[in-house]
Amino acid sequence: MIRLIDRIEPYVKRQYTTSIAIRLAQPDDRERIIRLIDTVAGERRYLQTDHFHSTSIWEQALREGANIRDGLLLLLTETRGRAVGYARLTTDWDHPQKRFAGNIGIALLSPYRSQGIGTALLHELIEFAPRFGFQTLTAHILATNTRSLCLFRRFDFAPASTRNIYLAFAGCETQEITVELALPQEK
Ligand SMILES: CC(C)(COP(=O)(O)OP(=O)(O)OC[C@H]1O[C@@H](n2cnc3c(N)ncnc32)[C@H](O)[C@@H]1OP(=O)(O)O)[C@@H](O)C(=O)NCCC(=O)NCCS
Repeated sequence: MIRLIDRIEPYVKRQYTTSIAIRLAQPDDRERIIRLIDTVAGERRYLQTDHFHSTSIWEQALREGANIRDGLLLLLTETRGRAVGYARLTTDWDHPQKRFAGNIGIALLSPYRSQGIGTALLHELIEFAPRFGFQTLTAHILATNTRSLCLFRRFDFAPASTRNIYLAFAGCETQEITVELALPQEK
């Protein structure tokens, strides 16, 4: 029997430079990915939390890496054994009526930003998304996060809605922009 992981790996195991690789996350990457999220969240600037929150979706992503039936993919970027970024695609439960909307989360450690790695990760997720049956992709971005807005705009994501959200760690409200991309459908 072919495991899901075998069907996915040939697509995502690509070398973008000699030292930075993007691959499917494996169960033993768990602690490194959590540390990575803690570091980015700890900057209190880009994510909606200041530390990793264990949710059922995160636990499944960390455990399985990929699951076609549930529309789940977790990619890891590493350089010389160091985890420096991740990109996660899951069903967008903010639109539970839309099983066909996928949501993207993406983050890199600070020294690895603005070098095109985010572009490479997003490219991989967008390539994959139609195989999961997603018709639309969304990302929820803080309105102050110019670089992230820039990245998604580059792939033709367009602002679909804005809302005020409460940032518990900052004790204040801020604006979140949801950007959306309609995907071409697989025949
Ligand atoms: C957002 C993030 C994933 C983008 O990845 P990246 O590798 O830094 O971005 P890239 O180098 O691929 O550049 C993407 C676009 O942003 C633009 N950009 C790069 N650095 C920028 C900066 N400092 N300010 C504004 N735009 C910037 C680039 O010009 C590029 O657009 P272009 O090709 O049309 O010029 C990454 O910066 C990051 O992890 N930031 C912190 C966590 C975060 O914000 N996550 C997203 C939460 S929604």
